[in-house]
Amino acid sequence: MKIAPSILSADFSRLKDEIASINDADWIHIDVMDGHFVPNITIGPAVVKALRPHSDKPFDTHLMISDPEKYLDAFIDAGSDHITFHIETVDDPDRLIDLLHGKNVKAGMSVKPNTPVDAIKPYLSKLEVVLVMSVEPGFGGQAFMPDSLDKMRYLKRLREENGYRYEVVVDGGINVETGKLCLEAGADVLVAGSFIFKTQRRNEQIRKLKP
Ligand code: DX5
Ligand code: ZN
Repeated sequence: MKIAPSILSADFSRLKDEIASINDADWIHIDVMDGHFVPNITIGPAVVKALRPHSDKPFDTHLMISDPEKYLDAFIDAGSDHITFHIETVDDPDRLIDLLHGKNVKAGMSVKPNTPVDAIKPYLSKLEVVLVMSVEPGFGGQAFMPDSLDKMRYLKRLREENGYRYEVVVDGGINVETGKLCLEAGADVLVAGSFIFKTQRRNEQIRKLKP
């Protein structure tokens, strides 16, 4: 079980210290929002680039933006190790996945609460990351949607049956209780924002999520 703190809930006035202090994190989850695909605006490639020298953890960039292909190079050059995009935002997912692999970046696709896993089924064999949204994308601090557990179970089963390699990542409303449910349902990585950053004891919060 890996833990990916979402810096969306970190103190934006001191992001460098925030990411440097979370030693027990496995990945750093970076929520990119454009005010178009989702009703919020957050972090762009310049901020990702500025943070890159201050952490040796993989940067797991979650693009909640329309037309992600337009900004793919910028987020790759900024130092993203994984880039996840939403199926709704692209015409040709294969092209993005191939572009990412061509630059040695792990490719991820995400399903929102109302998007079925079957919508991304044709691409699963090529992905390193599948991100199950357990809240509506846009904001931290929302309540976990239990319907997402079935998607994790299904993704785990599909991986076993077909020999796929993706990690199942769950994002939204994760705390000790919901994290445990996700683990039981087959999630490999928990993204958590407010649970980790709501106290000053970030590493302690991360360890609480690890069974
Ligand atoms: C929501 C983001 C999440 C969010 C999670 O659109 O994708 O990564 O930061 O925050 P919590 O853990 O507070 O639900
Ligand atoms: Zn996210």
